[in-house]
Order: sequence, then C-alpha cells, then structure tokens
Amino acid sequence: MANTMQRSKSSHPPRVAIAIMAAGKGTRLKSKHPKVLHEIGGKPILAHVIATAAKVVPPTDIVAIIGHEADRVREVLASSGVNFVLQAEQRGTGHALMVAREALAPYDRVIVLSGDAPLITPETIQSVIDFHAAHKATMTLLTADLANPFGYGRVLRKSAQSPEVRAIVEEKASTAQQRKIQEINSGFYGFSVPALYEHIGSLSTDNAHHEYYLTDMAAVFNRAGKKVVAIKTSDPGEVLGSNTRAEMMDLDALLRLAKCRQLLSEGVTIFYPQTCVIDSDVEIGTDTVIEPFVQLLGNTKVGSDCRIRSYSVIKNTEIADHVTILPGCVIDDSRVGSGAILGPYSRLRPGTDVGEGAHLGNFVETKKTRLGKGSKANHLTYLGDAEIGEGVNVGAGTITCNYDGVHKHKTVIEDGAFIGSDSTLVAPIKIGRGSYIAAASCITEDVPADSLALGRARQTVKEGWAAAKRVAQK
Ligand code: UD1
Ligand code: CA
Repeated sequence: MANTMQRSKSSHPPRVAIAIMAAGKGTRLKSKHPKVLHEIGGKPILAHVIATAAKVVPPTDIVAIIGHEADRVREVLASSGVNFVLQAEQRGTGHALMVAREALAPYDRVIVLSGDAPLITPETIQSVIDFHAAHKATMTLLTADLANPFGYGRVLRKSAQSPEVRAIVEEKASTAQQRKIQEINSGFYGFSVPALYEHIGSLSTDNAHHEYYLTDMAAVFNRAGKKVVAIKTSDPGEVLGSNTRAEMMDLDALLRLAKCRQLLSEGVTIFYPQTCVIDSDVEIGTDTVIEPFVQLLGNTKVGSDCRIRSYSVIKNTEIADHVTILPGCVIDDSRVGSGAILGPYSRLRPGTDVGEGAHLGNFVETKKTRLGKGSKANHLTYLGDAEIGEGVNVGAGTITCNYDGVHKHKTVIEDGAFIGSDSTLVAPIKIGRGSYIAAASCITEDVPADSLALGRARQTVKEGWAAAKRVAQK
C-alpha cells in the first residue's frame, strides 16, 4: 500500500508496460505446435500482437508470457526484442499475470493483451490506456458487442449506461439470462500494477477449469471498492480470438482481405482479391497488376508497373519495376531486375538473380545463379551455381552439370556467349566471352573467348539402310 501511495504522488508520467498472455497450449486446435506460433496472414499470431504492441510502447516495455513450447516461441520471436517470462505450468490467465509480477513491478500501469487475438490495433490499445487514465480506474476492460458471443466471457455492467463493471462471467459459468448478453470481454485489459498485485492473491480456482481466471479480478476489485470500467470498441472485428482452426481461418481471411484493400488504396490492382494470398509484410508499387490466384509471401517486394499473372507463388523475393511474371512461376529467395520476363512455369530457387531485361522461359529451373542484363534462357533448362554475363543466349535444353555427387561446382558463361540447344556444361567450367557452343555438345573443358566449341560425335549417314531393312522384313 505504501508503495502505491508513493507512486501516485511522484511526478513522472505513468510508466506503461504491455503484457501479452501467450503461454497456452491451444488444446482446441488439436496441434503439436503452440497456438501462438500458428500462422495467419503468413506470420505467427503472436508476431502480429507483438508488432502492434511495439507501436504503442518500446519492445523493452513488452513482456510476453510464454509456457507451452516456450523455447520454440522464444526462438521464433527473439528478434522482436521483447522480454519473455516463463509460465512453466499454465494455470489460467490470472496465473499468467501472477508469474509476471517481478517483470511488471517497475511499472505503474499494464495493458494486458491476448497472444491469440491478433487483429487489435495500436489506436485501440491507446484508447484503453487513455480511458483507464481518464476514469482513474483500477481495471479497464475492452469489450465488444458480438452478434454471436458464444464462448466469450460476458460483461456484467452496474447498469446499462454505466461505464462501471460488476463482474465478468465465463460462458461455462453463465446463466441462460447472462448468455443473452452480447457484450463480451475481449481479453484486453488495463490495470494499475500495484493494485493488481495487491489483490491478485484473492483469485481462486473454484471454476469449471480449476484455473485462476484474470477475468475474476473484476469482481475482486469490486469487493475491494476499486473502480472497474469498460470501454466498448466500435470494431468488434479487432477483438476476435483464435481458439479453433476455423476461427483462425476467419481471421486469416479478414487479415488478407484487409491487406488487399490497403494495397488497392495504394494504387495496386488486384483482380479477385479473395483468390490471392498476400502476406502482411509484402510491399507492392503503384500500377502493378496482380491477377487471380497469385500468392505473394514472406517479405516479398514488388516494384511498380509489374504484372504478376495467375498461379504464381513468390516468396521472399525482390522484384524491380516493369517486370512480367507469366502464369505458374514458383520463385523463392531471389531477385528480379527491371523489365525482366519470367515464365510461364519458371522455377527460381534461392539465390537466383535475374538481370535487367533478362528472360527465363518455360520449364527453366535456376538455383544460385546470376543471369546478366538482357540474357535469355527461354526453354527447358537447368542453371545451377552459374555466373552468366550480359547478352548471353542459353539454348533450349541446356544443362549445367553442377554436381559431381559430392561437391557443387561453378559454371561461368561470359558476356555475349551463345550456348547451342541441348548442351551439357560440366562444371567447373568457363565459356569465354562471345564464344559459341555447338548444339548438343557435352563441354568438359574451358572454352576461350570468341571461339566455337563442338563436343559431340560426328554424324554418320548410311544411305539406303531403311529401305534394305524393309525388304528384309517382308
Ligand atoms: C479468455 C477470457 C474470456 C474472453 C476471451 C477473449 C479468461 C478466463 N477468459 O477466454 O473472458 O472473452 O479470452 O478472447 O481469461 N494463457 C496463458 N496462460 C494460461 C492460460 C492462457 O498465457 O495459463 C493465454 C493463452 O495462450 C491465450 C490467452 O491467454 O493467448 C487467453 O487464453 P484462452 O485460453 O484462449 O482464453 P479464452 O478461453 O479465449
Ligand atoms: Ca482465446
């Protein structure tokens, strides 16, 4: 108590922390992976919540309470810079906050978020902070009116108009009358830190799950004569949780459609956005056209004036301006220079770097390969571990033989070289500037600049052979 008095008298602005409850197993998902690492919008659910929280307070003031598969969760989210607190045994949302006591001690207020409700916005978090301060409340809960409130805790206000809340009642403990209440507890709260820890010991496990419910703090504070208020969000979509896979897919669809809307507003055309899968962190320039059934994943960046045709799946790739990607390309961890044309059905594996205005055509596979400005490999080709200069023409069916069964070797093709169709280039090998490789050659030795290399058996013709065979068969 003395501590509380001291704090409220001091003159510094209130120190605000954000605690994210993310220790639960997610039993209802029937998964071996922790709930908060399941992905929606191409990113772990918890990563969304952390990114939003980090727009309100610095990561050093964020405490993620983790438990189930804690090591994996910590590893996936280490780069976020937030603090982690271990709730080794998950004994309820109230228990999660008990465990975070020490981490939260230096703060005046804490905003509590649910690690499984990723659509919350920084503005709404800020409005909870402001409402809490304006009402000099001990506990503030964010609520929403849901058409289908099933499964959520219901809010019991002191009276219909009052901002003050008497208690929160969980679905399982609710009466038929209470189940009709559409105002639900979102699982987002503001607390006065000293008051929370002064009273959290009053929680009991006398309920359906034998857990400490954080929601019971509303009744606990009421009994102690402390003020509990509710702020209702105007956008119920923001508070939706993900207890089941079906709920997760609903959130995923909402998030992706919102992403498409954002891109449309920024000047990107997306035909049939419902069919496209565009991850949250993808960036696209103006006047680029995305055709139906395209997937843009991870931290893919697409420039302006590009066209990405249907059925292409592009991940962690940087695409410059004026690029055309014809249908059915699969592209991973690569770079594509401006004006390049890819596909249909090109497969760019990690480490491909396509130069300005270069072409990769149908059934061409590349890996760790740099293709210089204006170079072309238009048909049925494998280019692996290759360094290809500018203005090179790689004929149909060319193969870089980069693997000897033990090691990978490099193929170098210098500027202006012409590789005839159906050539096999056995690496390590270098084809000099401006030279020609005759079609169907097997090239095993370096070719100097400006020369012609043939590496195949001379053709023999046996005149009359077929006619003689037909006579013999009669
Ligand atoms: C909770 C609320 C409910 C509210 C709903 C909103 C309680 C008792 N109920 O129910 O009133 O309407 O959220 O979505 O709080 N967690 C821990 N440690 C634990 C238990 C849970 O960190 O010991 C985490 C979970 O990982 C999850 C969050 O807390 O991210 C909420 O827990 P969950 O079991 O999903 O609560 P709900 O049943 O959804
Ligand atoms: Ca939940």
